Amino acid sequence: MVLQSHLKILINREQIAKAVTRLACEINRDYQGKEPLLIGILKGSCVFVADLIRQLDLPLELEFIKVSSYGAARESSGKVRVVQGLQTRIKGRDVLVVEDIVDTGITTSFLLDYLKKKRPASLKLCALTDKPSRRRVPVPIDYLGFTVPNKFIVGYGIDCDEKFRNLPHIYAIED
Ligand code: IMP
Ligand code: MG
Repeated sequence: MVLQSHLKILINREQIAKAVTRLACEINRDYQGKEPLLIGILKGSCVFVADLIRQLDLPLELEFIKVSSYGAARESSGKVRVVQGLQTRIKGRDVLVVEDIVDTGITTSFLLDYLKKKRPASLKLCALTDKPSRRRVPVPIDYLGFTVPNKFIVGYGIDCDEKFRNLPHIYAIED
């Protein structure tokens, strides 16, 4: 079991807020005149997407999709399933996927393929964090908050066995 005493702050809330503002500026600039459809990946992106959209000055819409690739363990099972699909058509839309973390890349690349088949006008990825040391499948990240080391992270929506999503900073679990 992971206790709160095993957590060490990796990225504090001020650093996160700055990154969210920077990403929102880039997205505002790139989507001028468009009506993007943001798709948050549940559950990990919930806090990030909530903060991000409040700094987007665009006539956007928000959807969520839930995929599962992890069991109760810290290792990806490698098998991705769409647990809760889209409630809206994305054909012809400018779709921006919002992820908490790209780790092996298996989940995100599966998801991008799944969405691409539905023929959006454009498809881009915004990820709060990237753990490139663990990548097994290449994933193009259009908007990135932070590159993180090869440690398991929690907080700001990101969980370990469903815990710690409520913490305001991003922490690394120290073994
Ligand atoms: P991937 O398929 O290995 O890229 O994993 C992507 C998903 O695994 C993310 O959306 C997270 O939900 C989860 N994940 C990967 N690394 C971590 C981590 O360090 N902490 C918490 N969840 C993680
Ligand atoms: Mg997750």
